[in-house]
Amino acid sequence: MHDFLKRLPKAELHLHIEGSLEPELMFTLAERNGIELPYASVEEARAAYDFTDLQSFLDVYFQGMSVLRTAEDFHDLAMDYFRRASGEGVVHVEMHFDPQAHLARGVGLSVVMEGLDLARRHAERELGLSSALIMAFLRDRPAEEAMSVLEMAAPYWEMLDAVGLDSAEHGNPPARFREVYERARRLGIPRVAHAGEEGPADYIREALDLLDVCRIDHGVRCLEDPALVSRLRDEGIVLTVCPLSNVRLKVVERLADHPLPRLLDAGLKLTLNSDDPAYFGGGMLANFEACHHAFGWDEAVFRRLAANAIEAAFISDERRVALR
Ligand code: ADE
Ligand code: ZN
Repeated sequence: MHDFLKRLPKAELHLHIEGSLEPELMFTLAERNGIELPYASVEEARAAYDFTDLQSFLDVYFQGMSVLRTAEDFHDLAMDYFRRASGEGVVHVEMHFDPQAHLARGVGLSVVMEGLDLARRHAERELGLSSALIMAFLRDRPAEEAMSVLEMAAPYWEMLDAVGLDSAEHGNPPARFREVYERARRLGIPRVAHAGEEGPADYIREALDLLDVCRIDHGVRCLEDPALVSRLRDEGIVLTVCPLSNVRLKVVERLADHPLPRLLDAGLKLTLNSDDPAYFGGGMLANFEACHHAFGWDEAVFRRLAANAIEAAFISDERRVALR
């Protein structure tokens, strides 16, 4: 099964590029930029990745990205991930990035965009790996700030495959971002949003109704609302599920308790993703293998999940055919 899962061409639709920062690169960049880390060693950093919920992870995640200062840093971050992913049979990566988290540290949008864009071209050339860019808004920051970031991104609108919504979900419903998403819609930029990870099923409904999203990131709590499950199935809405993330952030206690088999039985269009692979115990292959061990799925199930991702990816029809 390991060889099959590794060879299976996989598209990743839900990855936070800042969450792909492995401790080794974190230390390299910290030294390059003269930044002090709260960890004495790579091992100590890894040992600190012990989370009780989404917020406890986000604190560590925002701290970790403080080493990213220059376009070269963002290039190295993304290329480091692309090389690893490619080695696991990943052929396409859609990466979220958090501009507000960088702007707050005095790192301009042009720095982030230049570095990520360079890495994307580099990966295409060197690895034959395609990618897409999802500019995410931090939902625990004011909607006005998100709107101003969207306007600030005007020189880069053409480079954005979608906008997204991430960070602390509790108490930050999609409704707050209605106008920002309406602006993105009028600009012709596709929309996705995290919903139903820690937050209630209602947030998934809101993301569909008020933000007009084409995919839901996570969405695992939809099962609490049978009418919503029917709607997701009937409308063919893709959920970008992140199994190891859900375990590490205690959305579920063990992978064996994960709702994935029930979501699959409900006829939903699912994809498997790594979310923040450096923090949650591995990338795409680790997530696929963990599901094999937990649920005993056969090759046909994994083929279907991989096909769902290629079908829902922000790629040209030509590229889609090439990846099938
Ligand atoms: N930002 C990075 N990872 C995230 C996650 N799993 N949920 C919400 N925001 C995030
Ligand atoms: Zn996520």
